[in-house]
Amino acid sequence: MAGRLLNKVAIVTGGGSGIGEAICKRFAREGAAVVVVGLNSDPVRDVVEEILASGGRAIGYLGDISRQDTAKSCVKAAVDEFGWLDILINNAGVFPATAELDKYPVDALEYMIKNNIYPVFMRTRSALPALQKSKGTIVSAGFEAGHMGSLMITPYGATKAWVMTFSKGLAVEQAKHGVRVNCVGPGPIDTAWTHKETGPMNAKMEKNTVDGVPLGRRGTPEEVANVYLFLASDEASYVTGATYFVDGGVTISTSLPGEDVPSHLKQQPPQHLKLAHRKAGNAKVREDATASMS
Ligand SMILES: NC(=O)c1ccc[n+]([C@@H]2O[C@H](COP(=O)([O-])OP(=O)(O)OC[C@H]3O[C@@H](n4cnc5c(N)ncnc54)[C@H](O)[C@@H]3O)[C@@H](O)[C@H]2O)c1
Repeated sequence: MAGRLLNKVAIVTGGGSGIGEAICKRFAREGAAVVVVGLNSDPVRDVVEEILASGGRAIGYLGDISRQDTAKSCVKAAVDEFGWLDILINNAGVFPATAELDKYPVDALEYMIKNNIYPVFMRTRSALPALQKSKGTIVSAGFEAGHMGSLMITPYGATKAWVMTFSKGLAVEQAKHGVRVNCVGPGPIDTAWTHKETGPMNAKMEKNTVDGVPLGRRGTPEEVANVYLFLASDEASYVTGATYFVDGGVTISTSLPGEDVPSHLKQQPPQHLKLAHRKAGNAKVREDATASMS
């Protein structure tokens, strides 16, 4: 099989749903062997089976990766199965609440610290020895509001600012080992999180979120996966310490320009991946992701 990630081995956290499902399938299509990581309740097995059925290579790893022991054993599983590790994608995350700060639930903050920050720290730490050996690369999920801040989701944006700053420091620190470190900063993407029926936004917030995008629509998981692919591939060999925003222009916008975009330009482009788990994600505090941190 030819491909931009031929013979590469990748771990993708949060790979069972949403953007992570698209990353796993896009990487597998480009020749990577993929370790699909998620919680017991995520459709990880389905994603693995779908990749295998289309001729790709994948295994699943189920566990709470905010824990140090789980993070370590996941890297071991990747190396035991495929021989080495080239790519770590820190995509797992949670978005359980929207509210002004005086009403923001404290348990939602704790849940985000545990599931947005700890997994990046634990997983990166555990993967570094293998990545230094392979001269590999790390790409993590930031967020446009991790750069700008955004009302009603101030604590969530701040957890993503942590990921983006962490990645820059790590990029400088690990350059001498030949390890590149970058971030992707999505805007509103068409997963469970950005729909009022499946995520924590109300109708007004959902409308403003989409109207705030100059391109006038949500991005697709596949459009985000395309940017992960570039950053993870050898084509990005001179890119480190960067955040690539995949946000339809939100970061540079100050009004609601999406309102003026004609409906024919709001159509999503043709999609090539079959993503059955796009809206199967983690958009409220869930019991299997509240286990204590180790
Ligand atoms: N959807 C968006 O609009 C958007 C915007 C900006 C950034 N992002 C980022 O993209 C990433 C994916 O978002 P999504 O919309 O695809 O959400 P999603 O809920 O579909 O996917 C996240 C996955 O991570 C898993 N996960 C969470 N904590 C975990 C843990 N401790 N151990 C193992 N698995 C865990 C979840 O169970 C879920 O399957 C997140 O990091 C998010 O912050 C998303």
